[in-house]
Amino acid sequence: MKKALLAMLLVGVLAVSVVASGCIGGGGTTISTQTGEKLQGKIVFAVGGAPNEIEYWKGVIAEFEKAHPGVKVELKRQATDTEQRRLDLVNALRGKSSDPDVFLMDVAWLGQFIASGWLEPLDDYVKKDNYNLSAFFQSVVNLADRQNGKLYALPVYIDAGLLYYRTDLLKKYGYSKPPETWQQLVEMAQKIQAGERKENPNFWGFVWQGKQYEGLVCDFVEYVYSNGGSLGEFKDGKWVPTLNKPENVQALQFMVDLIHKYRVSPPNTYTEMTEEPVRLTFQQGNAAFERNWPYAWGLHNADDSPVKGKVGVAPLPHFPGHKSAATLGGWHIGISKYSDNKALAWEFIKFVESYSVQKGFAMNLGWNPGRVDVYDDPAVVAKAPHLKSLRKVFENAVPRPVVPYYPQLSQIIQKYVNAALAGKMSPQEALDQAQKEAEDLVKQYSG
Ligand code: GLC
Repeated sequence: MKKALLAMLLVGVLAVSVVASGCIGGGGTTISTQTGEKLQGKIVFAVGGAPNEIEYWKGVIAEFEKAHPGVKVELKRQATDTEQRRLDLVNALRGKSSDPDVFLMDVAWLGQFIASGWLEPLDDYVKKDNYNLSAFFQSVVNLADRQNGKLYALPVYIDAGLLYYRTDLLKKYGYSKPPETWQQLVEMAQKIQAGERKENPNFWGFVWQGKQYEGLVCDFVEYVYSNGGSLGEFKDGKWVPTLNKPENVQALQFMVDLIHKYRVSPPNTYTEMTEEPVRLTFQQGNAAFERNWPYAWGLHNADDSPVKGKVGVAPLPHFPGHKSAATLGGWHIGISKYSDNKALAWEFIKFVESYSVQKGFAMNLGWNPGRVDVYDDPAVVAKAPHLKSLRKVFENAVPRPVVPYYPQLSQIIQKYVNAALAGKMSPQEALDQAQKEAEDLVKQYSG
């Protein structure tokens, strides 16, 4: 992975032409691409996310429409939760609906969309426009967007789990740097929590995503891989689950202990904690440590944030003798096979992936752009320095299994990991059961 990134940086980046030329044709509603093809009409773009992200997309669309007079992009607002976003799209695609034309997909379910034949291959568009793909995170493109030799999507932003911490509180309690092991995190969290609780009864040492949903699988992957465990492995091209490995059971026991034994994470971790409640708890000054994605950085440092200027960010801790692990997340853009305006959808993709729009994402939303050239932009380095300094975290991020049945596999993992967190099953029982159901699932798919 590192090699690929280096090669890409050396290749450098060619300018990508994104804006179609001129406005011609009847009624001013058509424009032409650089290859002379007429673009016209409307596309529907489906996207979800935090409220500030939706607002930002509205601005991106307005800019696109300004650069392409007569053309319309309708924003179809989706939920924040990845599973709701997936189900909404699956509905439209199963019904072969021509809307939405273009949409964002979680890297976790891209494999399912490609295997289902729902995405328009982009190779012909890339070729026709001589579009430069070397600007993108090659390792991620090769892992997620390119399958069976065809390109189906492009990364808009790359996520990886990070540890946020309160720099002022670490200093106040005598710590010079963030924790490197999970045990150190517990010790620091307990001490800071005990001290802060005297003034603030709502204070917690460490907040993270434990509700039964996709985000819990992401957190679980991080504990498991930072203990030398794994969810499964490919053997002769077939994915084989290893969910109840001893390393995984130990990792899950630690997650349970954070809530029930060390008591540094709140009981609502397993009933309510998704990204936004976690972010808000930390941002309101009610936590010392937080596990979240890069987007939290911009919001923590916004003018109205009570923790502005008091936030540090570091790689997640690991278990002794192992390495830190961050789950690979992120969102990719692609065109529906059933779109009735694919040419315009491709023009929109090029705009979203242009240097200036990608730079805007990094500067204004704290997103880690799918284009690597943006990372070295001095303005980006000044505004979100960790995107560059933590580059290794992104390069080495651990993908969730890239299998067509990932959504079903995820449901199994979520259910049992959450049952253990809630104290309904022991980690061993939970993972034994998850392993059994995962084996059945794989059998169904491989016949
Ligand atoms: C973020 C990640 C995505 C992950 C989701 C879980 O949106 O980018 O990959 O599945 O969080 O909640």
